[in-house]
Amino acid sequence: MIVGVGIDVVDIARFESTLERTPALRERLFTIEERHLGIASLAARFAAKEALAKSLGAPVGLHWTDARVVTNDEGRPTLEIGGTVLARANDLGVDSFHVSLSHDAGVASAVVIAEG
Ligand SMILES: CC(C)(COP(=O)(O)OP(=O)(O)OC[C@H]1O[C@@H](n2cnc3c(N)ncnc32)[C@H](O)[C@@H]1OP(=O)(O)O)[C@@H](O)C(=O)NCCC(=O)NCCS
Repeated sequence: MIVGVGIDVVDIARFESTLERTPALRERLFTIEERHLGIASLAARFAAKEALAKSLGAPVGLHWTDARVVTNDEGRPTLEIGGTVLARANDLGVDSFHVSLSHDAGVASAVVIAEG
């Protein structure tokens, strides 16, 4: 059963300026494994976390680094969650997520479906 869906779009250039202006944000938003990625992929992962939050009703208190996007050998992304995000998912009866990312024409976007 689909429990929730979330979508988000990010202006890649604006996101890059924000990260340059506030370098500490990179650590607050991204796990160690994500931080080294190029700006379009980072923006898409930020969009994925926003979309993930929306799929869970965007409660206050979710930590950005309690979710990360991992990709398999073919490049397919999946979400790994823990901590605050896992607790919220458990509260809602969500046991799996589906995520899709895109970046083109200066925009990064993501869709997340929460299933339970
Ligand atoms: C609520 C939130 C998702 C809105 O995102 P935003 O980037 O400011 O705004 P967007 O334009 O992308 O999205 C706006 C839409 O979000 C939707 N939205 C608002 N509150 C929502 C909620 N509690 N649950 C799901 N969707 C919500 C609405 O449809 C809104 O559109 P509307 O104002 O026309 O109705 C954002 O403020 C927020 O709380 N982000 C979560 C941060 C977070 O928890 N991060 C850690 C995740 S790992």
